[in-house]
Amino acid sequence: MTKPFPNMKTLVNLRTRTFVALILLALICSSLICVSAQQKEKSTQTKQEVKPGAADQQARRRADALLAQMTLEEKLGQLNQLFFFSFQKEESMNAGIRKGEIGSLLFVTDPAIINRFQKIAVTESRLKIPLIFGFDVIHGFHTIFPVPIGMAASWDPKMVEGAQTVAAREARAVGINWTFAPMVDIARDPRWGRIVEGAGEDPYLGAAMSRAQVRGFQGDRIGSPEHLLACVKHFAGYGAAEGGRDYDAANISDAQLWNVYLPPFKAAVDAGVGSVMSAYMDLNDVPATGNRWLLRDVLRKEWKFGGFVVSDANAVSDLQTHGYARDGQDAAVKALTAGVNMEMSFSAAVYLKNLANAVKQKQVSIKDIDDMVRPLLETKIKLGLFENPYVDEAKVESTFDNPEHREAAKTAAERSAVLLKNQNNLLPLNKTAYKKIAVIGPLGDSRQNMLGSWTFAMDINRTSTILAGLKTKLGTGTEVEFAPGVQIDRFSNPSIFDMMLKEKHPPAWTEVQAADEFKKAVDLAKDSDIAVMVLGENQDMSGENASRSTIDLPGRQLELLQAVTAAGKPVVLVLMNGRPLDITWAAQNVPSILEAWYPGSEAGNAVADLLFGDAVPGGKLPFTWVKNAGQSPFYHSHNLTQNPGEQEKRYWNEKAVPLYPFGYGLSYTSFAFSNLKVSQPEIKIGETVEVTVDVKNTGTRAGDEVVQLYIHQQAGGASRPIRELKGFERVALAAGEIKTVRFKLRPNELRYWNAAARDWVQEAETFDVWVGNDSSASLHSTFRVTP
Ligand code: NOJ
Repeated sequence: MTKPFPNMKTLVNLRTRTFVALILLALICSSLICVSAQQKEKSTQTKQEVKPGAADQQARRRADALLAQMTLEEKLGQLNQLFFFSFQKEESMNAGIRKGEIGSLLFVTDPAIINRFQKIAVTESRLKIPLIFGFDVIHGFHTIFPVPIGMAASWDPKMVEGAQTVAAREARAVGINWTFAPMVDIARDPRWGRIVEGAGEDPYLGAAMSRAQVRGFQGDRIGSPEHLLACVKHFAGYGAAEGGRDYDAANISDAQLWNVYLPPFKAAVDAGVGSVMSAYMDLNDVPATGNRWLLRDVLRKEWKFGGFVVSDANAVSDLQTHGYARDGQDAAVKALTAGVNMEMSFSAAVYLKNLANAVKQKQVSIKDIDDMVRPLLETKIKLGLFENPYVDEAKVESTFDNPEHREAAKTAAERSAVLLKNQNNLLPLNKTAYKKIAVIGPLGDSRQNMLGSWTFAMDINRTSTILAGLKTKLGTGTEVEFAPGVQIDRFSNPSIFDMMLKEKHPPAWTEVQAADEFKKAVDLAKDSDIAVMVLGENQDMSGENASRSTIDLPGRQLELLQAVTAAGKPVVLVLMNGRPLDITWAAQNVPSILEAWYPGSEAGNAVADLLFGDAVPGGKLPFTWVKNAGQSPFYHSHNLTQNPGEQEKRYWNEKAVPLYPFGYGLSYTSFAFSNLKVSQPEIKIGETVEVTVDVKNTGTRAGDEVVQLYIHQQAGGASRPIRELKGFERVALAAGEIKTVRFKLRPNELRYWNAAARDWVQEAETFDVWVGNDSSASLHSTFRVTP
């Protein structure tokens, strides 16, 4: 939402809170429309026949039998999804549910309310079709896991799958059936706030995280007990918003779309994702929510997707905003015929209000409507909602209280952390070496800010902050004192989610207070043996509607860091953020930097274990860490062009190199790679080549290394990226241990979408292979593909 903000102050001043809330929430998702390309796609290599199994066939029969009994109005009701917020009155929904005008509600998290709504649907509506309840279960529900960009930094799909299994179990326990996740938008611009919600810049890592999350949410099938229906979003190209401005148009070349932006979506579809959310923005001038090519040609015809598409919130109605649709009816017709099954809206409901008329005027047929309703009914059937529409309210607390969930959240936070710098092995700290530790910075003891965006249903009181974690870890033997030093806030431009915060922003300090707090923090550092500084961004500074034009540390944080460093005590910087920040000064002047992201409910306990060596950082950056916003987009898989030896001189004012490369991250131990072998010097097109490498823990303590494989096609029908990630594995190694890691490069990894051929191609060319622990890996070999 770029438009609402100028009006924000005025809105906040309005007296009626409910009204404000409704408007603001309506704005969360109302979008700048999407428009898209009319590309044609001829891939044969991605085609796969989906043979519907017995359960699918049965669901189809039951859905068809239901469809045969439904009036047009009831059908349109199934396509209608509305928000219900806790400040709304239940009565406002009851009549609509009873009449069969609502097929789904989102944002209801109270199991008693869910049961009451469901009861009306299954006992009082004519055909007794249950509602499906959706929610943004993005990185946890009650127990909060690290934000998705953090989980991607674990390079550990198994862990991520486990995290989303827990999230699904907790959400399912309150009666939620459907999550609007995973978000798999590739993001290469740190200014874009939603970079925090995805897996970063790389399609290969993105696809791995996409698959893992779909499996975690859905289990082995749609309808697995204690699981949810997943919804991969935002289809497609949302991460390429111009200027990093959320909701703005995306212009993406054909090659980039196929090679970079679409693969994580394809991975979700191949993993059996049951639903897809159409994005807000224009894709090459056609709105994604009215984009027939995307939603029919690619998604359904090419990829054989058999589930349903839901629009992003208000995106159908918003087709008018961008001059793609003349009026509500036109918007409804365009979205429906493009392939959007369900319309998510606050109250616009343009499907419900207009499609009967459109049928009358023969703009759409009853068959068109049936085709949109059928997959929704099939999904409700597969989820078991007809047999088990209610949730057992008595089981909620025991599900939430499962200690394994906290354990999983802590492990996830530890595995997500990335050690960026560790001069003279300052970390891990020795528990007995420090009598007094200063925890300094605005994020050191702020519970809400440990959690990241999309966290509304947790128990905020069960959040361990960095201060609390360190105190618990060190007990009474060490003094741990806290001073925030500075305040950070979006002050004049608050987040659209602020009203839902469980811990409100503290009131702004006066100038005198600010000076006093700053001094207190510096004095505390002087008076302590070591300072742990916790800096970054408040959780609402990244996420939806949280784009920035710069990536510096907000507020006076850099000044504080400089003043505390000048105090002369060792400084460890713990970063909490969802995007790369300009930490160039810190990278030069602070001995140790640990990227913790927004680590979740167990933030403090995990960070304490990491700082004191009871956990060893092993995460790696899922994006290229630029020095400043002016460098972006800057990603590892760029093409090599003119004057390759002078790449660092692309800017005259500074070196055109990022601060840290993609895939980078240190450990408390060290690793060495050797013995890189390619199984054959030559393979034929269509064959697979195996690459093996030995990785050894050369240090004195156990640790994990992420072994990464990159390739480069030396020549061919298009310029190919200088390096592309095509394999990775996170390996645990005891001190001195060696393991051999194997990668397979199959035709899938060796092909690419060629824009000139408008097809996937695999070419008979020579390939470079590098293996190592980041995208600058130097261990090198080659192999040749022959016709
Ligand atoms: C808008 C966001 O873009 C989307 O990601 C989210 O799932 C919906 N609102 C529902 O909250």
